[in-house]
Amino acid sequence: MRILVVSDIHANWPALAAINERYDICLCLGDLVDYGPDPAPCVRWAMANVKYGIRGNHDHGVAQGVPVVGDAGYRYLTRVTRPLMWEALGPEERRYLLRLPLTRRFTIDGKKFLLVHGTPRDPLDEYVMKDPETWAKRLQDVDADYVCVGHTHVQFHLKINNTIVLNPGSVGQPRDGDPRAAYAIIDGDRIELKRIDYPIADTLAHIDSLRLPDRAKEMFRASYTQGRLRPHDKLEQPA
Ligand SMILES: [Fe+2]
Repeated sequence: MRILVVSDIHANWPALAAINERYDICLCLGDLVDYGPDPAPCVRWAMANVKYGIRGNHDHGVAQGVPVVGDAGYRYLTRVTRPLMWEALGPEERRYLLRLPLTRRFTIDGKKFLLVHGTPRDPLDEYVMKDPETWAKRLQDVDADYVCVGHTHVQFHLKINNTIVLNPGSVGQPRDGDPRAAYAIIDGDRIELKRIDYPIADTLAHIDSLRLPDRAKEMFRASYTQGRLRPHDKLEQPA
């Protein structure tokens, strides 16, 4: 059984479309929307291809019509792109986001899976990186062979006792300094953390065509080309 694990696609269709993998089952760990220019094709792809999907904090905010406040960093980019999500998504796509569960449990080939966007303690919002001590605490009452998480946009896997914690990273908005799309494959007992090139220029051209402040467009250029968001003031420094 070959399992494709994706997360944090964030409306970046060129990144998602670049994944060229044979797989039997696809798992999606949330955040299909916000930030990127193409939410509808990403949600449609999930509707057609994802067997087990869960809700990310951004899916929740978009589906529930939550406005965002904030003027810095990713929160600012969420604020300026969220209205574009509401314009771009049709009722069926919005309904799909609305119905995504917070967690999912199932068994594949005798292995027990738990999917959560953040952590088992706080499925939508808690950030935990590759930190064995914190994960050991979060897994104390969890009975699973695989706990698959997203949210941080940084990929890793970690074994805590008999449980593997897997974060496939972000397909559409990596934040680890590597701008390539990230995802993971579970094939039998083997886990592969993958990175692939995609046409970043296509995503940026689409961003440029949207009704967004120039400041947001500059920040997106940094994020998509560098795989991290440099502070805006640095971008304005003369070269
Ligand atoms: Fe995310």
